[in-house]
Amino acid sequence: MARRKQIYEGKAKILFEGPEPGTIIQYFKDDATAFNNQKKAVLEGKGVLNNRISEFIMTGLERIGVPTHFIRRLNMREQLVRHVEIVPLEVVVRNYAAGSIAKRLGVEEGAALPRSIIEFYFKNDDLGDPLVSEEHITAFNWANPQEIDDMMALALRVNDFLSGLFAGVGIRLVDFKVEFGRQYEGEMMRLIVADEISPDSCRLWDMETGDIMDKDRFRKDLGDVTDAYREVARRLGVLRETESSGQTGPVLVSDNEK
Ligand code: TMP
Repeated sequence: MARRKQIYEGKAKILFEGPEPGTIIQYFKDDATAFNNQKKAVLEGKGVLNNRISEFIMTGLERIGVPTHFIRRLNMREQLVRHVEIVPLEVVVRNYAAGSIAKRLGVEEGAALPRSIIEFYFKNDDLGDPLVSEEHITAFNWANPQEIDDMMALALRVNDFLSGLFAGVGIRLVDFKVEFGRQYEGEMMRLIVADEISPDSCRLWDMETGDIMDKDRFRKDLGDVTDAYREVARRLGVLRETESSGQTGPVLVSDNEK
């Protein structure tokens, strides 16, 4: 097969030129990083799981009318997505206090927030993705006021969808990060959900046991990271039962499987 042109390599994904103009192939690596690249590991099978989980979530968002970059999954590690101009912001929605907000504002971990809180972080590895205000965003032209409104409205719709989806399978959506891209169609521009939504970018706690089922397992050295991601996939119905027992490659469908 002809070697595809690589457009960009990030910490957890590689982007290749897509087969048609306006498309990109998003390849999910097994690499995990935390604390702005200071901590690194290869978690075997993570990319496969995140590809499937993100596909499932993006497809669900499309179904309720939230536009995303997702077109279709190509194979175990790749999906075809729309080419967008990424807005250089990480949009975080929080329902319960955890992570940086707990630390920064002294809120007790796990406390329900008075309402869902939206935060913006400037995507810049050299600076460690600093928290920014709407003033910074408009002054430095990272997004205009209309785009900020649109991103906040979309982020809340994503939050409602994800909260319900996960609650239905016994998982609390503590917080998550979403990225947006500008898609140009002639004179028109619209913001769509881009990047990925997976246990790498969410905090997910088991509602019964409180067990952590997301990337905090890696950040906090709790172990069994991919097992937790696999359990998230299994509960969402993304994996067949037979795929949930440790195997991460394609599974041979056996005769006795339903
Ligand atoms: P934080 O509490 O560390 O600010 O993280 C908030 C949410 O955003 C959490 O679900 C993890 C996610 N996140 C990312 O997806 N990428 C990042 O680089 C960071 C710092 C957080």
